[in-house]
Amino acid sequence: MSSSPCPGEAPAGGRYGEGLFEPERPGEAERIDAAALVYDPVTTARLRALGAGPGMRCLEVGAGTGTVARWLVEEAGVEEVVALDRDTGALAGLAGPRLRVMAADLTDEELRPGSFDLIHARFVLMHLPERRRIVSRLAGWLSPGGRLVLADAVELPDVLDTSSAYRRTMNAMWQALWATIGTDISGVPGYPHVLREEGLRDVGAEVYCPPLAAGGPLARFWSETWSRMRPELVATGRVDDEVVDEALAYLDSPLLAELGPGMAVAWGRRPLG
Ligand SMILES: C[S@@+](CC[C@H](N)C(=O)[O-])C[C@H]1O[C@@H](n2cnc3c(N)ncnc32)[C@H](O)[C@@H]1O
Repeated sequence: MSSSPCPGEAPAGGRYGEGLFEPERPGEAERIDAAALVYDPVTTARLRALGAGPGMRCLEVGAGTGTVARWLVEEAGVEEVVALDRDTGALAGLAGPRLRVMAADLTDEELRPGSFDLIHARFVLMHLPERRRIVSRLAGWLSPGGRLVLADAVELPDVLDTSSAYRRTMNAMWQALWATIGTDISGVPGYPHVLREEGLRDVGAEVYCPPLAAGGPLARFWSETWSRMRPELVATGRVDDEVVDEALAYLDSPLLAELGPGMAVAWGRRPLG
């Protein structure tokens, strides 16, 4: 069974942060941070390799709790970062002379945040059904020579496993995310092509699947995610409460042995001329 939702199945029209992953719900910032902790070293190494450094104006899209925006200012020493998110509750304390917090909705066609030498969006576009149109707008906000860096989830599922509680729950999660808020990771491996379609050059891409260890931050992230989504998981008809309980116990067990979902990063540069 594919980890992607069935093509043609229409999402319910819900939005990230409404009904699912509400920012005001206790523990939501900690859930996001658990993933950030794992992926930040990979993200920051890639941004560094792409030249993040002094003199740059950067846009951190869907900045979440601001770990990457803060790194850009404090470690990479960029000139300015605009940390944009629909919900800026977790970013408020980070604002400073070189870190501007912008409350804005990426789907707002009127949005014009300026032009940037580096634009980075991690685990955001996958949740937005308008993702293709948004990539065009992000590319349009690049200064000549500027880099667009897109990072979203990918999965390399064990297709021979069709029955374990882990696999059934993971598949139910992707389906439920699609059905409730339109999340879709099926297009993520195609991001390099999308960047090329936008006229960007020096396109590159990589994938990182971090180890999934019981008690580790990623196991905590999936455990929190599945616990929050339990009603939606059961509503798919693919799992019941017993299967979800088994999957949750497995995430916390020394028997855990899975290649977990990972992150694909794709980047490209706007030509100078
Ligand atoms: C899964 S979190 C990722 C946070 C951060 N990029 C990271 O990797 O740690 C998704 C973020 O995108 C934001 N977001 C979702 N929809 C958005 C929209 N339409 N406009 C702006 N931000 C949005 C959410 O508020 C949330 O902070």
